Amino acid sequence: MSSFRASCQHLYSSLRLLSFLSLLASVRSDELQILLKLKSALQQSNTGVFSTWDPTNSSVCHFAGITCNSNNLVTEIELSNQYLTGTLPLDSICQLQSLEKLSFGVNLLHGPITQDLNKCVKLHYLDLANNFFTGPVPDISSLTELQYLHLNNSGFSGSFPWKSLQNMKGLIRLSLGDNPLSPSPIPNDVLQLTKLDWLYLSNCNIQGTIPAGIGTLTGLINLEFADNNMTGEIPTEFANLVNLWQLELYNNSFTGKLPASFRNLKKLENFDASKNLLEGDLSELRFSTNLVSLQLYKNNLTGQVPAELGEFKKLVNLSLYENKLTGPLPQKIGSWAKFDFIDVSDNFLTGPIPPDMCKQGTMKKLLVLNNRFTGEIPANYATCSTLIRFRVPNNLLSGTVPAGIWGLPNANIIDITSNNIQGPITPDIKNAKSLGQLFVGNNRLSGQLPTEISGATSLVSIELNDNQFSGNIPSSIGELKQLSYLRLQNNKFSGSIPVALGSCDSLTDLNMANNSLSGELPSSLGSLPTLKYLNLSYNQLSGVVPKSFSSLRLSLLDLSHNNFTGPVPHS
Ligand SMILES: *[C@@H]1O[C@H](CO)[C@@H](O)[C@H](O)[C@H]1NC(C)=O
Ligand SMILES: *[C@@H]1O[C@H](CO)[C@@H](O)[C@H](O)[C@H]1NC(C)=O
Ligand SMILES: *[C@@H]1O[C@H](CO)[C@@H](O)[C@H](O)[C@H]1NC(C)=O
Ligand SMILES: *[C@@H]1O[C@H](CO)[C@@H](O)[C@H](O)[C@H]1NC(C)=O
Ligand SMILES: *[C@@H]1O[C@H](CO)[C@@H](O)[C@H](O)[C@H]1NC(C)=O
Ligand SMILES: *[C@@H]1O[C@H](CO)[C@@H](O)[C@H](O)[C@H]1NC(C)=O
Ligand SMILES: *[C@@H]1O[C@H](CO)[C@@H](O)[C@H](O)[C@H]1NC(C)=O
Ligand SMILES: *[C@@H]1O[C@H](CO)[C@@H](O)[C@H](O)[C@H]1NC(C)=O
Ligand SMILES: *[C@@H]1O[C@H](CO)[C@@H](O)[C@H](O)[C@H]1NC(C)=O
Repeated sequence: MSSFRASCQHLYSSLRLLSFLSLLASVRSDELQILLKLKSALQQSNTGVFSTWDPTNSSVCHFAGITCNSNNLVTEIELSNQYLTGTLPLDSICQLQSLEKLSFGVNLLHGPITQDLNKCVKLHYLDLANNFFTGPVPDISSLTELQYLHLNNSGFSGSFPWKSLQNMKGLIRLSLGDNPLSPSPIPNDVLQLTKLDWLYLSNCNIQGTIPAGIGTLTGLINLEFADNNMTGEIPTEFANLVNLWQLELYNNSFTGKLPASFRNLKKLENFDASKNLLEGDLSELRFSTNLVSLQLYKNNLTGQVPAELGEFKKLVNLSLYENKLTGPLPQKIGSWAKFDFIDVSDNFLTGPIPPDMCKQGTMKKLLVLNNRFTGEIPANYATCSTLIRFRVPNNLLSGTVPAGIWGLPNANIIDITSNNIQGPITPDIKNAKSLGQLFVGNNRLSGQLPTEISGATSLVSIELNDNQFSGNIPSSIGELKQLSYLRLQNNKFSGSIPVALGSCDSLTDLNMANNSLSGELPSSLGSLPTLKYLNLSYNQLSGVVPKSFSSLRLSLLDLSHNNFTGPVPHS
């Protein structure tokens, strides 16, 4: 009996195994059909993954982008970044019973996301970000296993189904930003997601204040609310967010001071609260010694830049322009790491420009426009070959320009306008191969304009006005084929206007007024095809105005206070 029962049982379980296996086989063939349907629903604009989706020589588990479990059932579809177009057949995809990961980020998919998504109940990971979907995100309350939900920048509109989040207690990453969602405050449902380490809600129409409940999300490493319409103060409950690595609050209407609790954010590396209405000083940032990028431009911040920032060992980007900051900058600022840029323009900063921001040889932008900096341009920047923008206008700088500055090989703008700077432009300028704009007006510069200026072949604008330059204008300037603006007024240039200037085919604006130029007007100027503005007043030019000038189409011509004779051409 017992052995009969045993063999019966054996038979029975064999049968069960058999039927299970045949069930599996049929599920597997269904899964093949589902994937082939997916393949035919989507098109690829390059030959990519789908070339391996060929059932004649390969099982679905070997299709590129497909992962299976030990039963050879599909658990993951990873097809991000594949130039896929078409609409997603979610009705069939979500029939894959073991599917845990669905990743279609960065493609060209369109159309709606349907309720069928709810049948993907085992999903841990859903990435539909960076596509061109339309319509709202449907209710997805049955996706209770989700840990990663990326829907950012994908065209979703309407109300987001915030309530669905109540069932996703294990959610670790939530990215909904860059979608034209309907206006909404930060819902409580988000504040219950205590496992979150990533919350991206920028540029998706979030309104109102940051709720105090944010303090419960202690695991957050990244919090982004930028480009919304948010108001109120930054809550003190930020004290709990000790793991924050990045905090993005820019372009809202936040008010008040940086809260005292900021001193707890010791891991903070990237902080951007630019374009708000923040006031008070920066002293609460003294303890965020790991800051890599600090951006607080366009606020109403006052007080001094804390001395501690000069010791921040990782700082590479500092942008504090358009505030009301006073006092000097810490002199060692930017000297420790591979510094990238500083922009502290439009403040009331005093003292010297910190000298060592290019110490690691990586600095690209030095922007300190419209402050009250004093002292000389630090000599170190003369060897900062990475500099692209060097702008220090409207300060109280004095001394001479370190010669190498003129020849910075990658600089496309050098702007020292309206300071108290003296000395010459040196022949180094021949090395300034990228220089498009040379703005040195309104200083006390002197000497000749070096012939070598013709080496700066990218020059579009030269403004030397209101200085004490003297000597001849070099003929070599005619080699500057891109030169559009040449402003030399209010200097002491002498000699004649070089004939070669007529070769500057791009010239639209020529001002040499109020110098000591003499001799006749070269007729070559009459052939400048795009000249619009010509001011040669207050010189000692003589002779007749050449006939060639009649082909110019000027909107301004000032030849007054010279010694010209004869008629001005009719046109
Ligand atoms: C299957 O065969 C096709 C053409 O016969 C080939 O292009 C493809 O690479 C093969 N797939 C695999 C996974 O070997
Ligand atoms: C946007 O989605 C992608 C996934 O496609 C994700 O890697 C990225 O982190 C998301 N962006 C943000 C800012 O959360
Ligand atoms: C600022 O945010 C608003 C949305 O609140 C957006 O429309 C605007 O383009 C953003 N401004 C900038 C400069 O990004
Ligand atoms: C910003 O929010 C306020 C209410 O807080 C609303 O009156 C205003 O229209 C919103 N602005 C935009 C651009 O959405
Ligand atoms: C900036 O702060 C000053 C007081 O320090 C205040 O008068 C002014 O209204 C504020 N400006 C803005 C835009 O908040
Ligand atoms: C610094 O700013 C530059 C230019 O805006 C940017 O390319 C770079 O990624 C920034 N670096 C960091 C660490 O934020
Ligand atoms: C000419 O330049 C001198 C300074 O070089 C200045 O004092 C004078 O006002 C200028 N004249 C005109 C007419 O602009
Ligand atoms: C030409 O330049 C002189 C000197 O800077 C200036 O006084 C005069 O107004 C200018 N002429 C015109 C028409 O702008
Ligand atoms: C102007 O020209 C006349 C002769 O044409 C000459 O006598 C006079 O010295 C010239 N004046 C100036 C300021 O160059």
